[in-house]
Amino acid sequence: SNDIVIRGLGRHVPEKILTNADFEAIVDTSDEWITTRTGIKERHVVSEGEYNSDLAVGAARMALKNAGMEAEELTHIIMGTITADHVVPSGACVVQEKLGLKHRVAYDISAACSGFIFGLENARAILALHPEAKVLVIGVEVLTHRTNFEDRSTCVLFGDGAGAAILTQGGEGPKLLDVKLSTDGSLANLLTVSGGGSAATYKLGDTVGPEYFIQMQGREIFKHAVRSMTGICNQILEDNNLTNKDVDVLIPHQANWRIIDAVGRKFEIPAEQVYSNVQRFGNTSAASVPLALSEADETGFLKEGNLVMLTAFGGGFTWASALLQY
Ligand code: ACO
Repeated sequence: SNDIVIRGLGRHVPEKILTNADFEAIVDTSDEWITTRTGIKERHVVSEGEYNSDLAVGAARMALKNAGMEAEELTHIIMGTITADHVVPSGACVVQEKLGLKHRVAYDISAACSGFIFGLENARAILALHPEAKVLVIGVEVLTHRTNFEDRSTCVLFGDGAGAAILTQGGEGPKLLDVKLSTDGSLANLLTVSGGGSAATYKLGDTVGPEYFIQMQGREIFKHAVRSMTGICNQILEDNNLTNKDVDVLIPHQANWRIIDAVGRKFEIPAEQVYSNVQRFGNTSAASVPLALSEADETGFLKEGNLVMLTAFGGGFTWASALLQY
């Protein structure tokens, strides 16, 4: 069959944990504020010497194991990330090397929190052109590297992690029925990391300012995130002659619990059918959807016959949805 199939899923987070209590010692905040505003209780963060590529490789190896494949079989490595180890080389090239591979097609996608779902659409395109391809799609982020730990309104939100999926044409596993992507550059200034880009002129000896870290207007983003994710979920359903009643499980970007809850309500899906792990990982950007998907798959939250909706929203703005048939 020429169905696009997810053959294996994986995830990897650093061992080190930062709890809300830990943040009480870093900025003027409280467990109570963070919990009620975001639902986040703790996040995993990298330790000295632990990099984006290490998390990506950890997730990739778990996906390979679950797929019953050897790394050698992979033909393409696509990585959604805005926090690769380096500006050059790309994160995917580093991951290729760490997986012991050469001569693969490996590249990064810059779509912030929507990076993994953008990667799924790339996988579909590659598999349409190259039916024998075995495509590894990774969403990975070390957002704490771009977090301003003096800014209480952002620093409590983010965590590090990776999730991965291996896709082929045909084979055993949930089918990727469709993907839908969208972007809007006119709202870019609501969420930026501008320092280090070529429009932010800098020279040797400059000190790193707050523009090197995530800067955002939380309230505005909140509104757009809810509206955009709900909208693109409804659009993909319409394209496929389905309705929200057909969806068994919704896995939204894990930015914060109130956004997840609001998307679930607006999409009119019962809360118990919405997957959330933001309590334990915070916002891991491009990693958040595959990290949640891999967990939901492994713990049996996702069942045979389920129609599963993935959705994400991120800086750019970028937003996306994907439909899986379990
Ligand atoms: N601890 C204690 N007080 C805080 C903290 C904190 N960590 N952060 C902010 N505050 C204070 C503010 O200073 C403000 O005080 P003031 O009224 O005296 O000025 C007060 O709390 C209210 O701040 P708001 O920003 O209005 O709080 P809000 O209820 O909007 O919650 C939040 C803030 C959690 C950031 C919310 O707007 C939000 O979740 N927005 C979405 C942001 C997001 O998730 N961005 C990334 C997602 S998109 C993506 O993933 C790319």
